[in-house]
Amino acid sequence: MNIEDLHIGIIGATGVVGQQVMEIMESRGLLPKQLHLAASKHSAGETRTYMGKDIEVEELTKDFFGQVDIAIASAGSKVSEKFLTPELIHHTVIIDNCSFYRMDKDVPLVIPEVNGFELDRAPAKSIIANPNCTTIGMLMALGPIHQQLIVQQVVCSSYQSVSGAGQKGIEELSSQVQSMFQTGDYRHHVFDHRIAFNCLPVIGALDEDGFSDEERKMDRETKKILDDSIAVTSTCVRVPTFIGHGMSLHVKCEEEVDINEVREILSNAPGVKLIDAPEQNVYPILTDCQGQDDVYVGRVRPGLDAHSFHLWVVSDNVRKGAALNAVQILEHVITQPWFGPMVS
Ligand SMILES: NC(=O)c1ccc[n+]([C@@H]2O[C@H](COP(=O)([O-])OP(=O)(O)OC[C@H]3O[C@@H](n4cnc5c(N)ncnc54)[C@H](OP(=O)(O)O)[C@@H]3O)[C@@H](O)[C@H]2O)c1
Repeated sequence: MNIEDLHIGIIGATGVVGQQVMEIMESRGLLPKQLHLAASKHSAGETRTYMGKDIEVEELTKDFFGQVDIAIASAGSKVSEKFLTPELIHHTVIIDNCSFYRMDKDVPLVIPEVNGFELDRAPAKSIIANPNCTTIGMLMALGPIHQQLIVQQVVCSSYQSVSGAGQKGIEELSSQVQSMFQTGDYRHHVFDHRIAFNCLPVIGALDEDGFSDEERKMDRETKKILDDSIAVTSTCVRVPTFIGHGMSLHVKCEEEVDINEVREILSNAPGVKLIDAPEQNVYPILTDCQGQDDVYVGRVRPGLDAHSFHLWVVSDNVRKGAALNAVQILEHVITQPWFGPMVS
């Protein structure tokens, strides 16, 4: 299908991810027949500009799905649970950025560069899930390595920016930094503790074994996307940066690791940029990845034994970690023989 023939929806259009989806679609020249924007009732009636045209934001209701052939949803898991049911969406294809459907066996969980083949057949529930932003960054690097060296175990420590908690996360860090300087005082609503000038070693609810939601997602989603036999254990940390997530990985493989082979694989991996000359102070930093499509990797070095290596990964969590990945899925889907417009 040509994009010009389609009605495309963006659910959560006023949020950090929704706005980035619009920006990326615009920069890729994607001009649908009509773009429909939805958010909560608080934003209904506001406008957002797309390719020079003002579009009114509507409140998301079940009627929204009758107007669109395909939609990218980034409005939180509660919205996914309530609205993205097969009965309400009928056959509209939904690409969902939230965690609600990610582990559903009838919902493909897709990073196009890693398991884009999952899009070759129609999704059973008409829903395709976008993985968690840290999982995407990690698997962009580990997917191609797994093909050659068979990854068995990963130990990950993440350094995650406040935009991972949406617009309100960005606002909380901003206002705390200002008020700490002005009055030495601060308020917190979004994060459990002060995030300004701090690091918080829990992201999401803890389970009975003491692992957070975010940490469990990395393991479960890796198994679903790459290989059920890979074990991932993580410590996910919120840090006072605005955009971009960093990750330190210790990776153990079935094959013996030749570190030059790892570098070679990474330098040829789609969507990955290897920046690795630490003796010249060259390694990926957050400001490299902000606003960029690629995932940046560096500090490639031997691990604890002959089968292991270390890696440092940074990626733009709002972009490749959410919006870009969803737009790439949309671009794939509309070229599939199984995809047919509902509205147009
Ligand atoms: N930020 C990231 O790095 C990232 C990465 C991967 C996945 N995600 C996921 O993407 C989703 C959105 O994240 P975000 O960072 O964009 O959050 P956000 O900035 O808080 O935006 C949330 C969006 O959802 C809308 N919304 C809230 N309640 C709604 C309702 N009842 N009906 C319709 N729309 C509603 C909001 O509309 P109003 O403006 O009207 O309130 C807003 O457009 C979350 O599920 C998040 O987990 C985020």
